[in-house]
Amino acid sequence: MKILILGNGGREHAIGKKLFEDNPSINIYFYPGNGGTSLIGKNIENYHSTLELGFFAKKNGIDITIVGSEIFLMEKIVDIFHDFGLKIIGPNYLSSQLEVDRSFSKDFMKKYGISSPKYEVFSCYDKAVSFLEKKTKPLVIKTNGIAGGKGVFLVKNKNEAKKALKTIMIEKKFGNSGNKIIIEDYLQGIEASIISIFNGKHIIPFISAKDYKKIGENEIGVNTGGMGSIVPNPYMTNSVWLYFKKNILNPTLKGLILEKLIFFGFLYFGLMITSNKVYLLEYNVRMGDPETQALLPLMESNLLNIIQSIFLKKKIYISWKKLYSCCVVLSSNGYPENYDIGKMISGLDSLKEPFYIAGANKKKDKWITSSGRVLNIIGIGNTLKEARYKAYDKVKKIKFDNLYFRKDIGL
Ligand code: GLY
Repeated sequence: MKILILGNGGREHAIGKKLFEDNPSINIYFYPGNGGTSLIGKNIENYHSTLELGFFAKKNGIDITIVGSEIFLMEKIVDIFHDFGLKIIGPNYLSSQLEVDRSFSKDFMKKYGISSPKYEVFSCYDKAVSFLEKKTKPLVIKTNGIAGGKGVFLVKNKNEAKKALKTIMIEKKFGNSGNKIIIEDYLQGIEASIISIFNGKHIIPFISAKDYKKIGENEIGVNTGGMGSIVPNPYMTNSVWLYFKKNILNPTLKGLILEKLIFFGFLYFGLMITSNKVYLLEYNVRMGDPETQALLPLMESNLLNIIQSIFLKKKIYISWKKLYSCCVVLSSNGYPENYDIGKMISGLDSLKEPFYIAGANKKKDKWITSSGRVLNIIGIGNTLKEARYKAYDKVKKIKFDNLYFRKDIGL
């Protein structure tokens, strides 16, 4: 069995490690991969287009490709691999609009009565500014296109709102992703992430997770790709699950089928749990990062069997350890804006599993940072407190210049 995993972060390392632990005889290829993935498989290099990747997969007899990062979806990777007759886990271009085009997904939510915040879409800066003039409550302003999790601004007043609009639409900080914007009602609550499997017929949810998106403790500062995660999410009580299934999951399934947004892959629900309701904030059409890194160490089922079952459209049972998991992201100070790389990391070679490499390479026996998010350190315990304690105990063993991490993951 040959698997190709697309992406270069901690999520892809975690998927690869889990597949390899469950099935030591498989061959895993990563594109582009990172220093961690090269230890469990082969990082393939020098491919410049999705078409070339398709030729690689065909020529090398890749059985299944897993799209880790959303970047590949914009390049129609799934449609291209289908043209080659290759099996791939991920949405085709049309279905990927659920993630990469927010106005498309908000319109889908509205059409199918999915519990979600009220919104307006603007592509004209002046019209957006005059809409804001009438608003007095906090709002959320989002780029229509994806921006690595960073194109979302919570604005408490008109000045903040206008500043965010200027950053997105005039200064073009997120390029074409900000050509259109969504202005959404701000909801006070606790976020939850539900990753699920969609096989074209059923949606099978994983256990719940929570990610920590802001750079600063107590969710202060700018959005990042994610600074930590916990599993399960303590706020996903039975009644929240029931509400989610009735008002979000079931109508989503109905809509996907009616709109022919059929794909074999992962569907991620980004939720907001308020005092009396659960709202869907966004879909992603892939596994979340860093939720995956906290989820997979608790998965008892064989991930390869689960992935193979997707193509058979079978409703499967996924078994999970009855434990808690806490993932702390170690980053380069200055991330997500400006940061230095090339710093030597100590303490990694003797670190107890599980942990994942997000952005580091091994050069002459030394680990060197290569990105903003560097490592994902995981603690597992019988309680969240114990999982958190174990994660932070492991974090203490890692050192590199300009190391930054949040100290409140799981608090
Ligand atoms: N943690 C959310 C994401 O992967 O975008």
